[in-house]
Amino acid sequence: MNSKVSVIGAGNVGATAAQRLAEKDFCDVVLVDIIEGVPQGKSLDLTQAAPIERHDAHLTGTNDYEATKNSDIVIITAGIARKPGMSRDDLLATNKNIVTKVTKEVARFSPEAILVIVSNPLDAMCHVAYGVSGFSKNKVMGMAGVLDSARFRAFIAMELDVSVENIHAIVLGGHGDAMVPLPRYSTVAGIPITELLSADRIEALVDRTRKGGAEIVNLLKTGSAYYAPASAAAEMAESILKDKKKILPCAAYLEGEYGIHGLFVGVPVKLGARGIEEIIQIKLTAEESCALKKSAAAVQELVDTIKEMK
Ligand code: APR
Repeated sequence: MNSKVSVIGAGNVGATAAQRLAEKDFCDVVLVDIIEGVPQGKSLDLTQAAPIERHDAHLTGTNDYEATKNSDIVIITAGIARKPGMSRDDLLATNKNIVTKVTKEVARFSPEAILVIVSNPLDAMCHVAYGVSGFSKNKVMGMAGVLDSARFRAFIAMELDVSVENIHAIVLGGHGDAMVPLPRYSTVAGIPITELLSADRIEALVDRTRKGGAEIVNLLKTGSAYYAPASAAAEMAESILKDKKKILPCAAYLEGEYGIHGLFVGVPVKLGARGIEEIIQIKLTAEESCALKKSAAAVQELVDTIKEMK
């Protein structure tokens, strides 16, 4: 296959993303980790599943970035995951160092790649990767909105007992407790959920979405969610590599859009061969706009903390 996606971090999210990508059968996958044997073993295992799953994607596991050379997309999942009682922000110092090291290597071998960041705290890690790589802003993005909106969509489907395929949803803002699910723009077969559910029920679904990651951390106890995060990263990679131009909520570097300057925040974007091809600006009510500003302020606080670490 011609297209190449490298996934850095062969843990739960990384290995599952490699699986999803290979099974979609549109790119070869290179899985990289700092631990010797883990990426090699997982990619060999996935290779042995290929005859049954019926795909021809080549999988390579390695500790050496040479194998990532000339990747079209690099998905960065390296880092530590949350444990019960931890917020995503608690991962800041450790993951900042890891994402810095990883991005340097990635950029050295794949200067033309598009970077999809998954490591948390997500929006702050996008800043780290953007700064270290020096790549243009359309080529650095964070995976969070696709995951958060998928969680919202799943909860809406469960509540209304309808197919998930009928449901679209938008979640704006940072990938944290202040994220902004938008019920007015969330629909079932085109009908806004505000016409189908009471305000109380919507608020309950919004709240569960905001705490969606923590709910899973509390159940798993030893790590954080990975099936849905991996699916979300793979969907972004597919939209880019196939130039599908899907409109997906992603963390993007804003320079005035939504009144936010110089910050990665989740907004709807058009994802195609050039990466972020357009930032879609939707009209917000005063209340929604205020919630987005609050969420952006929480991201800014983390970015400022990172600057102080230097
Ligand atoms: N280079 C490469 N890989 C690294 C490095 C590094 N410098 N440091 C750590 N890793 C690897 C670990 O060895 C591990 O295999 O990153 C992997 C992380 O995997 P998990 O611990 O299973 O964590 P996971 O659930 O995959 O989450 C990874 O994604 O969703 C976010 O919050 C989550 O920040 C976390 C990241």
